Amino acid sequence: MNRRQAIQSTAALAGSFFLPKPLAKLFLEAGFTKQDFGPNFKWGVATASYQIEGAWQEDGKSPSVWDTFAHGKKNIKTGENADVGCDFYHRYASDLELLKALNFKVFRFSLGWPRLLPQGTGKANQKGIDFYNRVIDKCLELGLEPWPTLYHWDLPQVLEDKGGWTNRDVLNWFSEYTQLVAKSYGDRVQNWMVLNEPFAFTTLGYMVGWHAPGKKGLRNYLPAVHHTALVQAESGRILRSELPKTANLGTTFSCSFLEPKFNAEKHVRAAKRMDALLNRLFVEPLVGMGYPTDTLPFLRKIEEKYAQPGDMERMKFDYDFIGIQNYFRVIGKRSFTTPVLWANEHSAKKRHVPADQITDMGWEVTPDGIRQSLKQFAAYPGIKKIIVTENGAAFPDMVENGAVHDPLRVKFYEDYLAKVLQAKREGVPVEGYFCWSFLDNFEWAEGFRPRFGLVYVDYETKERVVKDSGKWFQEFLKD
Ligand code: NOJ
Repeated sequence: MNRRQAIQSTAALAGSFFLPKPLAKLFLEAGFTKQDFGPNFKWGVATASYQIEGAWQEDGKSPSVWDTFAHGKKNIKTGENADVGCDFYHRYASDLELLKALNFKVFRFSLGWPRLLPQGTGKANQKGIDFYNRVIDKCLELGLEPWPTLYHWDLPQVLEDKGGWTNRDVLNWFSEYTQLVAKSYGDRVQNWMVLNEPFAFTTLGYMVGWHAPGKKGLRNYLPAVHHTALVQAESGRILRSELPKTANLGTTFSCSFLEPKFNAEKHVRAAKRMDALLNRLFVEPLVGMGYPTDTLPFLRKIEEKYAQPGDMERMKFDYDFIGIQNYFRVIGKRSFTTPVLWANEHSAKKRHVPADQITDMGWEVTPDGIRQSLKQFAAYPGIKKIIVTENGAAFPDMVENGAVHDPLRVKFYEDYLAKVLQAKREGVPVEGYFCWSFLDNFEWAEGFRPRFGLVYVDYETKERVVKDSGKWFQEFLKD
């Protein structure tokens, strides 16, 4: 292949090497370059097994709680499921080549527990192990760093049948799973994340029932929270002891900076309660501060009912980095309908926020929120490094003449990245940034409607089309 052909083939793969004019202008207006973030800053994209893989019954995989939940009636707003979805399971090689062509260096993905251990524990499934071997090896061949997450919400259904996260045995199940993963991939993988957004999967899955497994109430929530906080530390300890030389270990948190709607005492207190729930619940036990019972007294029940002697100590672990995942800030105010726990008023529509400042998820675009959250999490004792392991936006996208013009997403990334850089300059040890997401994918209870990708996926044909935002990164990340 001569140079011209090589350029043409890469250009065909990535849409185009050259930015359309208006986009090039936006790029120049961003006011910062990749170099401003430093030579060792990690640039990546994030994905998750259930959201992209498909192949839900292939090669020995057992159902996860999400397979069951999505097949259940009325659980997914669009009535869809991710049985096939983006079909990454079969298309991983060309997808990773595309990622490489976009000039990213890090691929964050998650390991599917029910692929590796179809019974949750016990006999490992070699075909499942081999799938991630292929993904990891392809990354390494292309010069991409593989960054797996151990748990991005797809608990094996067989374990949910025994109580899932509400059963303290999950500590043993997860330990066994961690050991298998370390043994299988530790020779090639150096960067690890243990849990994805513990607040989200416990609260949505075991308190309000909007996500799998659809359980509700404090009697499910409190034990699920406690066992998750224990696993969060225990799995890190296992990885460190199994892979003492190589591992760069982290775990991730969802976060939303809280602002009181009014400066009156009762609203400030409501905002504080919400902050404790949204932001403090899992990071504080990890850094040795215990649960935020000062602000949320109902959490004392965990200590009274579900904790065993020594648990407060066991919930601590000194990760090499933490991942923070941010999309929007939240405005808190006391309301009369939900005065006990918290009150929330983040609805952007109610506040008459301009339409182009509201994403397809209904979330308000609030770039300074990421800077504030970075500062909030960096202030905890013992935080060594922070990686933004997810940030991005869903907007309605359309393919027009083979292109997807998504100026709102481009603007979103520019504005949030400017704030990440500002936080870095203000002393936050932020050392990486991963976009959510690489491909459009299954947005949980919302189905496929919200599109978060840098790459558009036609769910009928599975064709991939790089959006302008993907091309923006391709240009921005060019060496
Ligand atoms: C949080 C989750 O980790 C991810 O799975 C989800 O799709 C995005 N944020 C967007 O909601």
